Amino acid sequence: MCLSDRRIYTHPILEFKRGKEITIFFEGKPIRAFEGESLAAAIYAAGINVFRLSPILKRPRAVFCMVGKCGSCIVRVNGIPTRTCVTPAEENMRIERISNLPEASKYEKRLVSEEIDVDVLIVGGGPAGMASAEVLCGTDLSVVLVDDQIRLGGQLIKQTHIFFGSRELFAGKRGFEIAEEYSNKLSKCPNVRVLDRTTVIGVFKEGVVAVSDEATYLIRPKYVVVAAGAYENYLVFENNDLPGIMGAGGAQTLMNVWGVKPGNEILVVGSGNVGLIISYQLLQAGAEVKAVIEALPRIGGWFVHAAKIRRYGVPILTSHTILGVKGSERVEEATIARVDEGWNVIRGTEKSLKVDTVLLAVGLTPNTEIVRQFGVAMKYIPELGGLVPLRTPYMETSVENVFVAGDLAAIEEATTAFIEGWIAGYSILIKAHGMKEEYLTKRENLVRMLYEYRSAPVSEKVRKGWQLSLIPCEVSAK
Ligand SMILES: Cc1cc2nc3c(=O)[nH]c(=O)nc-3n(C[C@H](O)[C@H](O)[C@H](O)COP(=O)(O)OP(=O)(O)OC[C@H]3O[C@@H](n4cnc5c(N)ncnc54)[C@H](O)[C@@H]3O)c2cc1C
Ligand code: FES
Repeated sequence: MCLSDRRIYTHPILEFKRGKEITIFFEGKPIRAFEGESLAAAIYAAGINVFRLSPILKRPRAVFCMVGKCGSCIVRVNGIPTRTCVTPAEENMRIERISNLPEASKYEKRLVSEEIDVDVLIVGGGPAGMASAEVLCGTDLSVVLVDDQIRLGGQLIKQTHIFFGSRELFAGKRGFEIAEEYSNKLSKCPNVRVLDRTTVIGVFKEGVVAVSDEATYLIRPKYVVVAAGAYENYLVFENNDLPGIMGAGGAQTLMNVWGVKPGNEILVVGSGNVGLIISYQLLQAGAEVKAVIEALPRIGGWFVHAAKIRRYGVPILTSHTILGVKGSERVEEATIARVDEGWNVIRGTEKSLKVDTVLLAVGLTPNTEIVRQFGVAMKYIPELGGLVPLRTPYMETSVENVFVAGDLAAIEEATTAFIEGWIAGYSILIKAHGMKEEYLTKRENLVRMLYEYRSAPVSEKVRKGWQLSLIPCEVSAK
């Protein structure tokens, strides 16, 4: 175990407001941590590469997603199997590696069981879910917003770049500033209850069940907005489970939210906007980006983002893929190679790069686990990211009173997630209060705004997919 300090102390944009300094213990050894920060970030910051071993092959595992979705960071904390990336650090926590399957009996810690009858349940506290809650804030409808993260805001909390576009769609602001603004605003809404660090786990005959470390909730809503976002995609290559391989979003959370550098010498796979933006952010955090590789013969993201990292001398290698990585407890080397137009590897072009980290920025998949349990009609639409729920222009699914918004309905942007969330919010107000002129006008304006937003040439793919995902308004009422 190598103990070092991976924390970022100076940053051109971010100021990390860390909590009180505390001590936690990893396999009996004391580690410095800060109260309230993600426990995984604290462990990783101390230079620990191996969090756990896989149950059968005993292969080393460490953080990948940093949002509680992959299970790689599970360790025993004070005896209880815990996803450390979504658990805040507390003084004296005792952490042990797990090398088998975690024990279910240890979860019997939840003390409270609460039943909640509510008008609106919102699943997910990213831009889409927060936007629906904003519309409903201050109305006579009771709202519960459930989000499984330590901080509200979904993907926004890790976005440090400035948004483009119009002022009403947050141009000039950084993603984490928008998230903070909304989180403060919602905390003041008397009719909105936010259950953070709480996961919606299923839809049952009796209602929707959500759990946190302390409680189990049975929620009976009249209307539901599912805004559960998306998962980062994985890639198949040799040794792709070694510590040091992370999702680009996971690395962003580590670096931009918790102030911990994911690595020193980095290979980024994927040249879409996410790959390009994270490369620039890594440079800002003092890491070296050895290369960005892209299997397509052209760069996927915007010219402006590519130009920024090229100015720093980062090569963007198109028509290249990753073949594998080597290392014992962590990535030490990556092998890349050229591919032809059919993505076949061109033998003889293999090249080794000395890197300690490989970030995968190879797209997202809609997180539809919960919405499918409501029985809504789904369709595989590659242009929208995969299997997505069908919906009316007003964001209602084929099941009456179940609405969707954001990345789970189509992999797109925070701006469109906000607009869809607002539309879903007004649709609920219209259903609950009848066809009020004020709400109808606001909703039509938003539908028009969404249409105009998607009319840009860069949105061609989404536009096509969106048409395929539309159902007539009456269908949901049957
Ligand atoms: C690197 C990067 C850069 C980007 N830059 C931009 C940009 O410049 N401009 C722009 O407009 N967009 C940008 N985007 C896209 C934008 O961030 C997403 O489109 C947007 O966040 C989607 O919002 P959402 O609310 O649908 O999902 P999310 O932001 O993913 O939020 C969903 C939330 O729901 C929670 N959740 C999921 N399942 C459950 C459950 N079962 N129970 C409880 N909670 C749950 C998740 O943990 C999360 O907090 C960027 C994305 C990335 C990754
Ligand atoms: S669940 Fe914690 S890193 Fe994925």
